[in-house]
Amino acid sequence: MKIGVVGLGTVGYGVVEILTNEKQRLEKTINQEVTIKYGCGLEEVDLPEEIIYTKDYHDVINDPEVDVVVELIGGTTIAKDIILSAINNKKHVVTANKALLAHDGKEIFKAAKENDVHIFYEASVGGGIPVLVSQKESLIANNTKEIVGILNGTTNFILTLMENENLDFDEALTIADGLGYVEANPALDLDGIDAAHKICILAQNGFHQYIDFDKIKAVGIRNITKTDMDYAKKLGYRFKMIAQAKEVNDGIGIDVAPTLVNRNELVASVMDSYNVVEIDNDYVNNIIYYGRGAGRYVTASAVVSDIIKTSQQEKWSHDYPDCQHVYPITKSKYYIRASKPLDVDYETYYSEKADHIYITHEMELDEITTRLNDEDYVIFKVRG
Ligand SMILES: NC(=O)c1ccc[n+]([C@@H]2O[C@H](COP(=O)([O-])OP(=O)(O)OC[C@H]3O[C@@H](n4cnc5c(N)ncnc54)[C@H](OP(=O)(O)O)[C@@H]3O)[C@@H](O)[C@H]2O)c1
Repeated sequence: MKIGVVGLGTVGYGVVEILTNEKQRLEKTINQEVTIKYGCGLEEVDLPEEIIYTKDYHDVINDPEVDVVVELIGGTTIAKDIILSAINNKKHVVTANKALLAHDGKEIFKAAKENDVHIFYEASVGGGIPVLVSQKESLIANNTKEIVGILNGTTNFILTLMENENLDFDEALTIADGLGYVEANPALDLDGIDAAHKICILAQNGFHQYIDFDKIKAVGIRNITKTDMDYAKKLGYRFKMIAQAKEVNDGIGIDVAPTLVNRNELVASVMDSYNVVEIDNDYVNNIIYYGRGAGRYVTASAVVSDIIKTSQQEKWSHDYPDCQHVYPITKSKYYIRASKPLDVDYETYYSEKADHIYITHEMELDEITTRLNDEDYVIFKVRG
């Protein structure tokens, strides 16, 4: 197998390192040579001498000797051209690009099928956690009922800092940024977009339907205050940015939202930059995957596994219909904080200083907004 790695940044360079270090063992496992022919990046980096360095990805996608193109540049424009051109040149593709797959997965998977090549993308969700392969292969007997995850390590790290160090959002963000946790475009993480990309891919894999990414509602963590964190703690909850997807009558309920999670739930114990994915299905019931969702070797590990998997015969099927209706999941318990008593059905009420805190019964968001009309209040979803 001859491989071209396009993008030699955090993940791409890790892929070169792992494939170089583990070459002999991997070759023995699949009983064939595993060779990186090209390393392609905008800036030259130190590469083992047998790897050809190029600045131009066309060298990789047009070389008839290359069997597998590994796209690790990110973004949705050039990356799309690389992937589609590679597929049309009958090359298998491995990518970690969740943004591209959430937006254009349907077109890419269709092209892969037409050209009878593999497209693997394990690293796009949960870094090194093998959740997509589990959905696609190990859980194939099951119908997915619900997927719940903490899918963005940066926001989980910030929420952990806010809670443990009693910081407000801006203070925690500054520390996370200083430690290199925040991307050049922080909105992707902080506004829930990255988590939405990932739940979109997980939901497509789990429910076997294409979900229009633009219809997924994502709310980020910028509005979580120290005050609400304190009250959550006092009431036995912890803030987590929860990505969720479940089948509803005529479509898929799917969203990303800061949510108070009961501290006794396993998901609530996932701290720092760790990720968790909980899949509920009909035969195995609840399965929980926990691990690091990002980082050079974590992510490169999943990419290398995918590269090796291209040696298998059987292609993953992505023959899905379009999901007809995509809804935010609005039926939930809610946390409401107001500066005066409210007329709302609740299961827990707490008052401190001038604040009135309610945890409602499970109800539709509409019922609350209609009933509270012009009242001034802060509201978050509650789980468990
Ligand atoms: N980092 C993680 O932990 C992680 C986890 C899961 C998934 N991912 C995904 O993995 C992908 C790569 O992420 P990353 O963190 O490795 O990004 P990165 O460190 O920014 O690396 C991307 C590399 O691609 C290079 N590049 C950009 N345009 C190029 C082009 N036209 N031709 C050749 N090289 C080009 C960049 O060069 P310059 O720097 O010179 O622009 C950079 O070295 C993304 O899709 C990301 O979402 C990353």
